Amino acid sequence: MDLGIAGRKAIVCASSRGLGKACARALAEAGCEIVMNGRDAGVLEKAADEIRRTTGARVNAVACDVGLPEGRAALLAACPEPDILVNNNGGPPPKDFRQISHAEMIAGLEANMIAPIALVQATIDGMAARGFGRIIDITSASVRTPLIGLDLSSGARAGLTAFLAAAARAFADRNVTINHILPGVFDTDRIASAGARQAQMRGMTLEAFRAEREKSVPAKRYGRPEEFGHLCAFLASAHAGYITGQSILIDGGAFNTVV
Ligand SMILES: NC(=O)c1ccc[n+]([C@@H]2O[C@H](COP(=O)([O-])OP(=O)(O)OC[C@H]3O[C@@H](n4cnc5c(N)ncnc54)[C@H](OP(=O)(O)O)[C@@H]3O)[C@@H](O)[C@H]2O)c1
Repeated sequence: MDLGIAGRKAIVCASSRGLGKACARALAEAGCEIVMNGRDAGVLEKAADEIRRTTGARVNAVACDVGLPEGRAALLAACPEPDILVNNNGGPPPKDFRQISHAEMIAGLEANMIAPIALVQATIDGMAARGFGRIIDITSASVRTPLIGLDLSSGARAGLTAFLAAAARAFADRNVTINHILPGVFDTDRIASAGARQAQMRGMTLEAFRAEREKSVPAKRYGRPEEFGHLCAFLASAHAGYITGQSILIDGGAFNTVV
């Protein structure tokens, strides 16, 4: 299917690895011009190069922290009029909610709620004026499934979802959509390092831990980042203008519900 977005400009935050990188790749394959981002300039440049080489897309690599105002300013300077914005960032580390300090609480909200909102504020009017805009937030299945220890991450992402719910409706008539993708367990560096920590805590090998976790998912496997990227590209496509304000789970059936 032709996604109808060749030549569109996309900012994909936190995209030098993992789910963000898969979104950047899928948008590049659809013919978009991409701004990729991460804090480690070496890793970012390597990822950008790989996507340039394999897709032929124009890719601008902007090394900065998307959680900081100056980082977001650098992204917008590289792409002042994005048609597509994929909001992503690292998540707060797991911690007992009683132990989270005020400063950690504010940092989590800054990273996973305020930073994406600031980018929406900066870009949505231009999208509306040009009659096309696709905003996609990478949040988490934890917005719908309580996960002990990820309370700050879940709270900030649920806050982001609620904050943007009215904006999604207010801009729908100008062909600007805002949707959220909620990953279950995907095969990325973050999941590998979190899995290694949990396996060690439980005195298991990493292989045994992974096998147990895979067994708990109806699909019996971790998600592949490219599956996530393709969903993102569809939501960014010309065909998805009638989908807005939605939180879409991609989790191999892990969330147990009828509707
Ligand atoms: N993978 C999953 O199964 C899963 C499940 C639920 C939710 N999530 C959420 O989805 C998001 C992406 O996860 P992932 O698994 O793809 O993570 P990952 O493999 O660790 O990749 C994270 C990417 O974000 C970049 N990044 C992190 N902090 C940044 C910052 N402040 N500014 C700019 N770039 C930054 C990293 O590059 P640098 O480190 O070089 O900056 C890297 O490119 C996270 O918020 C995670 O909590 C993931």
